Amino acid sequence: MKSKLIEEANHYDLIIIGGGPGGYVAAEHAGKHNLKTLVIEKESLGGVCLNKGCIPTKTLLKSAKVLHYLKEAKHYGINIEGNNEFSLDWKAMQENKKEVVDKLVSGVKFIIQNAKAKLIEGNAAMVSDHIVEVNGEKYYGEKIILATGSLPRELDLPGFKEAKTKGIIIDSTDALELNKIPKKLTVIGGGVIGIEFALLYCELGTEVTILQGLDRILEVLDNEISKTMTQILTSKGIKIITNVKIKSINDKTLSYELDGKIIEKNVDKVLVSVGRVPRYDAFKKIDLVYDERNRIVVNKNLQTSKGHIYAIGDLTQKLMLAHVAYKHAMIAVDHILGKDIPYHLVESPSVIYTYPEVASIGIIERDMNPNESFVTKMPMSHLGKALADHETDGFIKMILDKKTGRIIGCHIIASTASDLISEIAVAMQSEATVFDLVATIHPHPSISEIIYEVAKKALYENYK
Ligand code: NAI
Repeated sequence: MKSKLIEEANHYDLIIIGGGPGGYVAAEHAGKHNLKTLVIEKESLGGVCLNKGCIPTKTLLKSAKVLHYLKEAKHYGINIEGNNEFSLDWKAMQENKKEVVDKLVSGVKFIIQNAKAKLIEGNAAMVSDHIVEVNGEKYYGEKIILATGSLPRELDLPGFKEAKTKGIIIDSTDALELNKIPKKLTVIGGGVIGIEFALLYCELGTEVTILQGLDRILEVLDNEISKTMTQILTSKGIKIITNVKIKSINDKTLSYELDGKIIEKNVDKVLVSVGRVPRYDAFKKIDLVYDERNRIVVNKNLQTSKGHIYAIGDLTQKLMLAHVAYKHAMIAVDHILGKDIPYHLVESPSVIYTYPEVASIGIIERDMNPNESFVTKMPMSHLGKALADHETDGFIKMILDKKTGRIIGCHIIASTASDLISEIAVAMQSEATVFDLVATIHPHPSISEIIYEVAKKALYENYK
């Protein structure tokens, strides 16, 4: 029931808490469909992705890649005079990053205005099932979308809190804002964030060590992706130590256990990148249902146990990726609008923006049923364009359903894997087959030809 205490002006069809990739896309979609929409953001529009994640990291990684090209210039017949006479300007790299972020943040503001959604900057808290309080005012939402995202997971180990205060332990946000390039960087966690920062700082001249808890980095990905990326990162000078158990830190001495021995490592900066945890604080007063792993239970429409409250993006702990949040936003708003759109979140691609890039979608080889599926693989060195580019590291691995020829998984290491995977995503979404991929003319020469080539190989090997 609507509260009489709340002014009519403060009644909204939809209140969205959080203005990140989930929240702002939901605001745009709802506003464009004439829902009276309010979006509340407490830090900066665009959320972690735009301000402290995807975009700033990719901007700095691009600087690192340019540096990489300069170092490799001789392979392209270019001599840098005076033996590598170029220098790094960390401050200018930071300014470039800020410019990109600022431009995108103002773009998001414009999107929200253009959709006629109202934006309030402040710390929102749900005080009851329909009422949200921000900056001392109460707002009633017929429907509510929770899109409050996630925070880096911290390690609760001796000395870590003190070392964080001293700036020795850092998280991914701090790693983007260091006032100088560190001499040494120790990365705890060999996942996506750890790998991207390890490569960035290694290229900038930092001595980088990755300490991984399990027996390999990127353990959730295809085994060959982990193995090849280990080789590539090691060849760039990154030291990778697996099966470590982090114990404690005392000032600049980090202790970990390896093969039953305690190792004491002198550190400069230690990046902790061991996953992220959802931010539940804005709705802690609301009695939602959580599963045994403390994840909000949502149905296929992203509705929580209270039907008018939706949870999207990192909060659902499905895949903590901006493009998953975008998709969730569309699904939730379409459901609110009563649109009969089938739940289409078939598979989501994921990408690691190293060079070469890593991209992955669908089932991995170790989980496939060999009676029903098969694998076809091809190295990037097969392609003329990769040779011309001098970027031959990597491969494509496609997993196909034997009976139908449909793609059920694809794993790529390639210079432009982030773009290649989109063709596979479209093929999977539209249930295209390996025959369709072979029938499709791919431009020559191009990196995308690898998809045509691997599909053709699958055809010859399995559908004669
Ligand atoms: P992650 O889950 O990708 O990787 C964490 C790694 O830390 C795992 O390999 C795990 O085995 C290891 N680990 C966990 N506890 C450890 C311990 N005590 N000691 C040593 N190793 C330990 O998490 P990450 O890299 O922090 O990223 C967080 C989220 O952000 C992910 O969901 C990721 O998908 C997302 N993200 C995506 C990006 C992209 O799409 N390019 C970029 C950055 C983040």
